[in-house]
Amino acid sequence: MASVHINNIAKAYGAAKILHDVAVEIENGEFVVLVGPSGCGKSTLLRMIAGLESVTAGEIRIGEKVVNDVLPKDRDIAMVFQSYALYPHMTVAENMAFSLILKKTEKREIADKVERAAEILSLKPLLERFPRQLSGGQRQRVAMGRAIVRDPQVFLFDEPLSNLDAKLRVTMRAEIRTLQQRLRATIVYVTHDQVEAMTMADKIVVMKDGRVEQIGAPLDLYDDPDNVFVAGFIGSPSMNFLNVTVGSDGTLSVGNIPLQKPITMPSLRSSNVQYGIRPEHIDIDEGGVPLDVVVVEPMGSETQVAGKLGGQDIVCVLKDRIKARPGDILKIRPQADKALFFDSESGKRLR
Ligand SMILES: Nc1ncnc2c1ncn2[C@@H]1O[C@H](COP(=O)(O)OP(=O)(O)OP(=O)(O)O)[C@@H](O)[C@H]1O
Ligand SMILES: [Mg+2]
Repeated sequence: MASVHINNIAKAYGAAKILHDVAVEIENGEFVVLVGPSGCGKSTLLRMIAGLESVTAGEIRIGEKVVNDVLPKDRDIAMVFQSYALYPHMTVAENMAFSLILKKTEKREIADKVERAAEILSLKPLLERFPRQLSGGQRQRVAMGRAIVRDPQVFLFDEPLSNLDAKLRVTMRAEIRTLQQRLRATIVYVTHDQVEAMTMADKIVVMKDGRVEQIGAPLDLYDDPDNVFVAGFIGSPSMNFLNVTVGSDGTLSVGNIPLQKPITMPSLRSSNVQYGIRPEHIDIDEGGVPLDVVVVEPMGSETQVAGKLGGQDIVCVLKDRIKARPGDILKIRPQADKALFFDSESGKRLR
């Protein structure tokens, strides 16, 4: 396995600039997840690593080697796409062996590699079946098997689980993670799924409009986001943002509702402050502030309550079962030590 160094790369299609100055260091054996809104450039970046797109500026290195001008087939990378397109007329074993046959690998070695991949992926009983005789999750595993037999330096995955149902996704998530640990594989993985990103990644790269917003371990991004975008993007349901006013004595209020005890933080000015609080960091408290309840969603293990605080939208995830109904007033209390502050103009975190 190898490390991947993405040094300040840019991508443009004619006049359209898609990626700007993207820099990411991926260590050998690391599981890196790319997230960001649709169109932010995740697949483009992945395809550039694979060599399927040219590099407009900057440098990509795999291990020590600069690969900007290396053909995809010579990069020793295996990519698994969202639509994993198995060859329908080939059995599972033939699908997995195909790339090795093309490379004119010796028969014995092909058989060994297919056998080993089938073992890892629990596909042994299915080797003689055709893709149409497999479930979605089994097909997904065959697609991974095709990647594994190649013993690549790096695996690239572009939303590989998005076609699967929720339950199968959970199983496959665990399988990919186990697989990664067993092979000590270097993986770059694109997903839209929050839970996938949080649970699988050693490191998450948050992208927006072709730029990297922040890179970090999942819980570091969750606890310590650099800006409003990352704070709102990581975590589900997402962080609440309230426009607050900061009094000269450091009191915070939403509309005319005082939100918490005065705080002394030099970077807070009276205007242009956004107050960020995660839904799970809000408690029921008789002495708290009034929430006008709009929607109550009992989830069994918790209750989600959406409402208005001083006229602004806020969502709470409460551990208790709540009897409140739309139109009621609930007294709530954001956990003061969990609140984050952002400059409303730049979106930057105030510390
Ligand atoms: N061949 C191309 N020519 C011109 N523009 C392109 C081309 N391929 C992609 N783009 C543009 O580049 C931008 C990034 O696309 P990309 O597919 O990388 O986004 P993404 O982050 O993977 O989005 P999604 O989450 O929807 O898959 C988009 O605005 C897209 O329209
Ligand atoms: Mg994409």
